[in-house]
Amino acid sequence: MDILQVKDVSFDYPDKTVVKNLNFSIKKGDFLCIVGTNGTGKSTLLKLILNVLKPDKGRILIDGENSRHFKSFNKISYVSQKATDFNLSFPATVWEVVAAGLYPSFGFLRFPKKRDYKKRVFKALKTVGMHKYYKKLIGQLSGGQQQRVFIAKALVNNPQIIFLDEPTVGIDVKAVDSICCLLGELNRKMGITIVMVTHDISSIIYHSNKVLKLSEDGSARLVDSVDFGQETILKHIHHSNCK
Ligand SMILES: Nc1ncnc2c1ncn2[C@@H]1O[C@H](COP(=O)(O)OP(=O)(O)OP(=O)(O)O)[C@@H](O)[C@H]1O
Ligand SMILES: [Mg+2]
Repeated sequence: MDILQVKDVSFDYPDKTVVKNLNFSIKKGDFLCIVGTNGTGKSTLLKLILNVLKPDKGRILIDGENSRHFKSFNKISYVSQKATDFNLSFPATVWEVVAAGLYPSFGFLRFPKKRDYKKRVFKALKTVGMHKYYKKLIGQLSGGQQQRVFIAKALVNNPQIIFLDEPTVGIDVKAVDSICCLLGELNRKMGITIVMVTHDISSIIYHSNKVLKLSEDGSARLVDSVDFGQETILKHIHHSNCK
C-alpha cells in the first residue's frame, strides 16, 4: 500500500521553478531520504506534502487522502530543523515540549484523560531514551538530546509517518549517528514510515531503503539506497572533491 503518492507535481516560486512534474511514491514502512544540494527544493517539497504550500499542478496523497484536504493529523508528524522550530530560551520542560505534541490529535477541548496522556508522554520519552530528563528545561540539554525530545514530541500521537527536515544539522558526529540509529529503530521495530531531508547521507543510508535525489533543474530521481550508496562511493573513487 502506498502511504505517500506525489503525482505530477509542479511548483514555482515567482522567480524560480523548484519542482517540475515530480512523480514518486513510497510504501508503508519505507524509509526515504530526500537529498540534493542547497536550494534544490527539499524543504519546499516537504512544505508541499504538508500542505504549507499548494502545488501549481498535480496532487499529493497521504494514505490515500489528498494533502489539500488532509484531516487525519494524528497519522503524521513533522520534526523541523531544531533551531528554527523552537525558541530554546522559552522556559519549557522536556515534559511540556512532548505533551504539546498531543494537541494536533485531540485539540484543546478534547484533551485525553490525565492518566492516559501521562502514559503517552512517558512512553514517547522512553522510546527516545530521554525519560530521565523529563523535568529539565529544554534549553539546558545538548543539541542531540534536544533533537531526541523533538522526536519524542513527534511520536506522542503514534503517527504512521514522520517527516523530518535536516534533523541532524549542527549536532556532533557521534550524536548524529545515535539519532540515525534511533530513526532506524523507529522504522524497523515500530514500522513507522520515515521521510527525511538530510545532508548526512553517509550516516543514514544504512537505515534507509530509498533515496530521492533532487536536481537543480527541478527534476528528481528515486533510487534504492544500496544503488545510491554504490553510486556515491564510486563517485568518490573516480573523482577528487579537492580543487
Ligand atoms: N519563500 C520563497 N520565495 C521565493 N523563493 C524561495 C522561497 N523559499 C525558497 N525559495 C527558493 O527556492 C529554492 C528551493 O528552496 P528550498 O528551501 O526548498 O531548498 P532546500 O533544498 O531545502 O535547500 P537547503 O539544503 O539549503 O535547505 C531556493 O532557490 C530558494 O532560494
Ligand atoms: Mg531546506
